[in-house]
Amino acid sequence: MQFTERINRIQISPTSAVIAEADKLKSKGVDIADFGPGEPDFPTPDHIKKAAIRAIEQNLTKYTPTGGILPLRESIAAWHKRELGSNYEPKECVVNVGGKHSIFNVVSVLVQQGHEVIIPAPYWVSYPDIVKYAGATPVFVPSYPEDGFAVKASVIEKAITPKTRMVILSSPNNPTGGVIPPDEYEKILAACKKNNVWLMGDECYSHFTYEPHKPYSIASAAGSKENVIIIGSMSKTFAMTGWRIGYTLAPEALVQATVKLQSQSTSNPTSIAQHAALEAMRGSMDSVPVMLAEYAKRRKRIVEGLRGISGVACEMPGGAFYAFPNVAAHLANGGSGQALAKDTTELAKLLLDKARVALVPGDAFGAPGYLRLSYATSIERIDEGLRRLDHFFSRAEAAA
Ligand SMILES: Cc1ncc(COP(=O)(O)O)c(C=O)c1O
Repeated sequence: MQFTERINRIQISPTSAVIAEADKLKSKGVDIADFGPGEPDFPTPDHIKKAAIRAIEQNLTKYTPTGGILPLRESIAAWHKRELGSNYEPKECVVNVGGKHSIFNVVSVLVQQGHEVIIPAPYWVSYPDIVKYAGATPVFVPSYPEDGFAVKASVIEKAITPKTRMVILSSPNNPTGGVIPPDEYEKILAACKKNNVWLMGDECYSHFTYEPHKPYSIASAAGSKENVIIIGSMSKTFAMTGWRIGYTLAPEALVQATVKLQSQSTSNPTSIAQHAALEAMRGSMDSVPVMLAEYAKRRKRIVEGLRGISGVACEMPGGAFYAFPNVAAHLANGGSGQALAKDTTELAKLLLDKARVALVPGDAFGAPGYLRLSYATSIERIDEGLRRLDHFFSRAEAAA
């Protein structure tokens, strides 16, 4: 079948591919230690679910304004101000069908052929493909484990050319958990301002940071508004991945352009989900520290467990809910022992087939030699997965 050149530029999200493969085995009754999904294993808090039920009962089930109902845009602006110190008005806010959609819209209206977009690696899988779909070129810059995978302003500044249109940062980062310290983030903003480049701050994991890090938004920096685009999401903070509500905070003209695009594609995000999100923004946030405390316990357990496995090194992530171990010692050309696989894509497949552990290869994130394990799963399943990984790698070691 003949498809457009633009759709042929991109690939199916590798994280979805891993999840599909693991699900196939699970449906056949195979017990998988599943570190694949990038979503909270907690249910959506009750008060949010009840707001959605009320919305259905009140027949709030019709089209809404394309960019979201005004009370929701007001409450997102107010929440972001209260929680993260920004200063947006409702007209500078648009509600989208998840944070991924927010990014897709913004990139679509700002970026085109001939433009470059700077993306620190390891990166979230969707950034490069969204940029390529828009016809532009992703330019990858490194972030290093010894810096906790927080990209440096000097590295970004060096990569800026006259073609650079945007820098995309995710902090806390998926897949590394890296958190960019506020002073470094401000230096990146200064470099963007100096070069007239947009700075997109993806804050989907903003509230999942571990001491000494705190939730932070670059939108709280003085003079940020003209250059900054904030991407937010209900998905992780409120365990609402399936509801598909994200938002964009940006200068009004940019917001209007994305509303125009949205009016010719998805139209409004689901009305019922908007009412649920309204409750998330206005109601109690008690569930957030509860989830965070549980993630903190799991983070310690999984990182210590991974560090105990032969040939595996792992940084302590500063945020989000992913461990990102380096397993290069087990790969061809990576270490002294016998190579288990030529790359992490092959290794992840082996781990699924032989050890019944699902995880995402670092290759997918522009990080050869690494694996991503989501610890949004119970301590019991983490322990079981660690046992399987230890067994797999130590048997391989013994055979070498
Ligand atoms: C870094 C990052 N940004 C954005 C998203 C998008 O999330 P959603 O579309 O569910 O809001 C994700 C989801 O995994 C993510 O990891």
